[in-house]
Amino acid sequence: MAGNWQDGYVTEIPYTQGFYHHLSPANLILCLLAKQVKFPPIDQPFTYCELACGQGLTTNLLAAAYPQGEFYGTDFNPTHIAQAQDLARAAGLRNVTFSDQSFQEYLEADLPPFDFISLHGIYSWISPENRRVIQTFLQKYLKVGGVVYVSYNTLPGWGVMAPIQKLMQFYRGRVSGLAVERLKMALELVELLKTNQAVYFQHPWLASRLEQLKAQDVHYLVHEFFNEHWHPLYVDEVMAEMGNAKLNYVGSAHLVDHVDAFNLPPAAINHLVTLSDPMLRELVRDFYLNAQFRRDVYVRGAVGMPGETQAQILQDMAFILTVVPNLVKLEHQTTAGQVQLQASLYQPVVDQLAQGAVTVAELVARLAPQGITLQQIGQTLIVLTGLGYAHPVVGESGLLTERFNQVIVERAELAGDLQFLASPVIGNGVKVSHLELLFLLAEQRQQPPVEFVWQILSRRGLQLTHEGKVLDTPEATLAFLREQAAQFTQQGRPLLQRLGI
Ligand SMILES: C[S@@+](CC[C@H](N)C(=O)[O-])C[C@H]1O[C@@H](n2cnc3c(N)ncnc32)[C@H](O)[C@@H]1O
Repeated sequence: MAGNWQDGYVTEIPYTQGFYHHLSPANLILCLLAKQVKFPPIDQPFTYCELACGQGLTTNLLAAAYPQGEFYGTDFNPTHIAQAQDLARAAGLRNVTFSDQSFQEYLEADLPPFDFISLHGIYSWISPENRRVIQTFLQKYLKVGGVVYVSYNTLPGWGVMAPIQKLMQFYRGRVSGLAVERLKMALELVELLKTNQAVYFQHPWLASRLEQLKAQDVHYLVHEFFNEHWHPLYVDEVMAEMGNAKLNYVGSAHLVDHVDAFNLPPAAINHLVTLSDPMLRELVRDFYLNAQFRRDVYVRGAVGMPGETQAQILQDMAFILTVVPNLVKLEHQTTAGQVQLQASLYQPVVDQLAQGAVTVAELVARLAPQGITLQQIGQTLIVLTGLGYAHPVVGESGLLTERFNQVIVERAELAGDLQFLASPVIGNGVKVSHLELLFLLAEQRQQPPVEFVWQILSRRGLQLTHEGKVLDTPEATLAFLREQAAQFTQQGRPLLQRLGI
């Protein structure tokens, strides 16, 4: 694309179409509640803005899930915004407005004050000047008491890969061709250095990090490794910059980060409790974890809430299971090693949630005979939500989500890139596979699922894979489809129904 509006950012190929559940108002307020900080009510009208919204799937889905919210999104790449507006139009969303303005231009736009502003995958990919523009935007448009979500590449975790980004980004300017071709050449250069045993490549962590690259989507790789401005940041730097916009750090939007025992070995926990300065604590914690990416929540004017208020709000909240119960694992591999969640606590909570949405007050009443307390239930629900097994309930059913989901399902006939549906019950996105979307399309068209999906796959020349093997005969594909359709009818479909989809 000609012109000089790109500011060093890659615009030759679009970014991936992702949905990021951490950005949902329900997730953000749960983070604030866990940290005993007051938050804006989301059962009344609120305003929400996503800066650098990409192709807008997250903002659109949230607009469908929260009809009481007024959503805004900007991204200076008009190709991204054309996609975002197209989906909003098709889904009949009237509570979302997209713009292709840069951050600088958006500063002067006619916008309302916001309750929520989110920035996912942008803050460490732009110049220091643009970061300053964002700070000014936050200061100008965030309401007092408003919430900011900001994610960014972090040091020390990116330390070992930063020189690789430097090399690839530099090489991009020295070779010609389309972005994807240049990416291939840059990756070949890296591979050659590895083969030739360049001393830098003896770093013990590099091999596995380079291996991970091979499995990544090219759109992601181009946007990660080819940007002129690419500055992984230490947490204290971001805290200081957010401070310029009068924001206070609250905690991580990734809720399992709230539970140290889940992430850190005992020695690290014992050390961290001695650090009362939150900046130092977070910085040191990032060294213990070798943190590479942070998803942080800030507020403008943190007002603490007494423990009793927190307990009351929590008891009034309801939670629901978001996966089929047998997918809940109590054993997890984390930076602390193999972590075993306490079965005598987690299993009863999961069993209760498996029966349907339930308020925390009701959970307390049902589990009190087993000696389980409100505090334990609260922490269990935070971990289960953070792991994607459970979620707070924020609504019932919604006409907007129905239409939005219908559009996503219809689009699955021609492409498989949109793989999230909107749940009005949890006010968040739910991951579904392309195959599941095609089964839903069969249902919508009242067609037998296996034959219907088989026809679409044949027409589009698509082959399925199972356990890493391509299914290359009609018999194998049909048998697999039958098995998947049966499983979807028994498990996936009822779960979606419970989630209001
Ligand atoms: C890594 S992508 C993330 C997109 C989206 N938040 C997501 O996670 O899918 C960064 C986005 O920032 C946009 N962007 C970069 N610089 C910008 C600027 N100065 N003003 C507005 N958007 C910008 C790019 O077009 C790109 O879509």
